Amino acid sequence: MRAIVFGGSGAVGISILTAIAERRDKFQNVTLVLRRKIDNLETLFFPSAPGDGSYFIQVIVDNFDSQDWMTAKQLQTDFDVAFYALGGKRREVDYDTYRKIELEYPRSIMAFLKRRNVQEVHYISSFGSSPTSFMSVLRYKYEAEGIISRAGIKCTFIYRVGGVLTPDKRGMHAFLQVLARFTDPWHSWSIPSEVLGKAIVNNCCSGADSREEIELRIIEHDQIIKLGSAN
Ligand SMILES: NC(=O)c1ccc[n+]([C@@H]2O[C@H](COP(=O)([O-])OP(=O)(O)OC[C@H]3O[C@@H](n4cnc5c(N)ncnc54)[C@H](OP(=O)(O)O)[C@@H]3O)[C@@H](O)[C@H]2O)c1
Repeated sequence: MRAIVFGGSGAVGISILTAIAERRDKFQNVTLVLRRKIDNLETLFFPSAPGDGSYFIQVIVDNFDSQDWMTAKQLQTDFDVAFYALGGKRREVDYDTYRKIELEYPRSIMAFLKRRNVQEVHYISSFGSSPTSFMSVLRYKYEAEGIISRAGIKCTFIYRVGGVLTPDKRGMHAFLQVLARFTDPWHSWSIPSEVLGKAIVNNCCSGADSREEIELRIIEHDQIIKLGSAN
């Protein structure tokens, strides 16, 4: 498969790339659309055999507002599968920027994926995503799920994942990570990043379901835990 990843530098994105690297035989190459280049990517993921640098292709895009980014040379090719882990942090950007990242960027990115004949998209949403949530971030996630699922891609997977636990300072808010480590040993609302990455990539590589029968599948947090814990 030829894969394209949006948000590959984030907590979830890194977990997806780690899981892809573990299933290297399934992925011909991986194109990362990022705001800034990640140095030594192949050494990071394949320390013993980094290769010639052609496995991970990095395309720098810092603005998805117009369609200009789609004309980048490395993006003039078709992809089989897309992983969408790009998202804003409400506490770090103003309201309008957050809304743009959560709702306008998906429109732009999905239009591109349709144009590039992508057959399958994996979108990271949130636990509790709902049109009636009292939290605006969860109402936005629900709206974004609608944008993603109506984009006309053959097969769409939406992951409603809980708080992501990471070994560094990424992922869920640091205080909540401490709380989760003490109070949620069964991962009813939290998930280790490596389990999440594995769940998404296992699901992508799984031959268990015929893609012909899936148009849209919403995968809730407890199912993500099961998928990521299977061997
Ligand atoms: N972390 C959690 O606990 C959690 C739980 C449920 C759902 N989710 C969802 O999962 C998705 C990924 O979360 P995460 O924890 O991986 O977030 P993250 O660590 O903040 O990563 C977000 C990714 O999006 C990119 N990004 C953010 N703003 C951008 C912009 N204006 N233009 C271009 N790229 C931009 C970041 O790039 P830079 O590295 O350049 O900033 C990074 O690659 C989000 O949609 C989030 O809502 C996360």
